[in-house]
Amino acid sequence: MIKIRANLINPISPEEVQLLKDYTLGYENGIIKLLRPFDPDQDRDSESALDSVIIPGLIDLHTHLSQYWARASYQPSLLPWLNQHIFPAEALSQDPVYAQDLARAFFKALFASGTTTAVVYTAPFKHACEIAMETALHLGARALIGMTMMDANSPDYLIQKTAHALEDSFDLFERYNTKDSRLNYIFSPRFALSCSADLMKQTANFAHQHDAYIQSHLSENKDEIAQVKGIFGKPTYTQVYENFGLLGSKTILGHAIHLSEEEISILASTDTAIAHCPESNFFLKSGEFPFAALLDKSLRIGLASDVAAGNSLSMLQQAKLASYRQSSLSLSPQRLFWHLTLGAAEALGWHDRIGSLQIGKEADLCKFKLNAHHAVDDQLLPKLIYLNDEFRISKTIIKGNTVFQS
Ligand code: GUN
Ligand code: FE
Repeated sequence: MIKIRANLINPISPEEVQLLKDYTLGYENGIIKLLRPFDPDQDRDSESALDSVIIPGLIDLHTHLSQYWARASYQPSLLPWLNQHIFPAEALSQDPVYAQDLARAFFKALFASGTTTAVVYTAPFKHACEIAMETALHLGARALIGMTMMDANSPDYLIQKTAHALEDSFDLFERYNTKDSRLNYIFSPRFALSCSADLMKQTANFAHQHDAYIQSHLSENKDEIAQVKGIFGKPTYTQVYENFGLLGSKTILGHAIHLSEEEISILASTDTAIAHCPESNFFLKSGEFPFAALLDKSLRIGLASDVAAGNSLSMLQQAKLASYRQSSLSLSPQRLFWHLTLGAAEALGWHDRIGSLQIGKEADLCKFKLNAHHAVDDQLLPKLIYLNDEFRISKTIIKGNTVFQS
């Protein structure tokens, strides 16, 4: 067993976080086996890291691998940004050498940011998704990965034939969904604007039959919403997805900004999970996430980088921006931490496996070095969020394997 003597911060609920000073945490075969106050008699064999704090590995609920090298492409409006910068950037992954270099750089950057679970879109090419899957397997990432599907209103150099988008996705699901306990396939119809009715319906049918995950984008931008309503003739964007059967407890929708009461009720009654992308919402001037209204209806919410509309893979930075993005609602550090860890695990239905430091859970950990000004007290959590750039990540561990060390 590997034993570390350190300080721990552990989420309990959206209101409660435990600070465990001078604890011993032990793990073996990828599982947390020991958690107790340091005992000088029994824990003499532990690695001493009292100058460190360990938290559960961070969870990024929505990010685009294929856009990692297109961050900071300035264009503050979703549709022109996609057309001018993002679609051409995704086309570069047609080259397998580029796709391989990009996948390796992306997962290494995730680990260096303390992210141990990520929900990932790849470019709309089957081989780019295969390369991402193989790289995730090779590097030991925990991820849900999907090939972006787009068969309508898209540039010639990206658009897929409906049948190919479906067949390729089904094949990727069958080959990778159960290949490793850390990996899952996630069906990824990009958004209603770039998907045909047929594609969305058939994707939803297959995913529900196989109890598979689905991800997409919902109500991010007002021009996008107007176009979706025009094409599909439904009163709301949420009803377009509802009508095609895309909502449910294994569906994660990014953004969900401009929603009516009725749409929020539909999302709640279908138990659809939401990925809130605060930096992206600032960068593209998309709007303010209706945090209070969604909490009111008990929706499951996790935070997300949405690279490349978000520029930072640091989930602590995303938590800080989630706080700033609310113009009047105050989000406590405890709640922000919840949406990065156990709350995000709950959004995936994985709260029994990951998201907190608990005996029997998988050892997904992130260790930070403290400096002389970082007292181990109840102000450590707000410092970790608001002063995140002052904390050096010294180790990231996924299922007991060290994937990053500095
Ligand atoms: N909507 C459809 N595709 C995208 C994307 O790649 N990024 C963001 N932020 N929104 C989208
Ligand atoms: Fe996105």
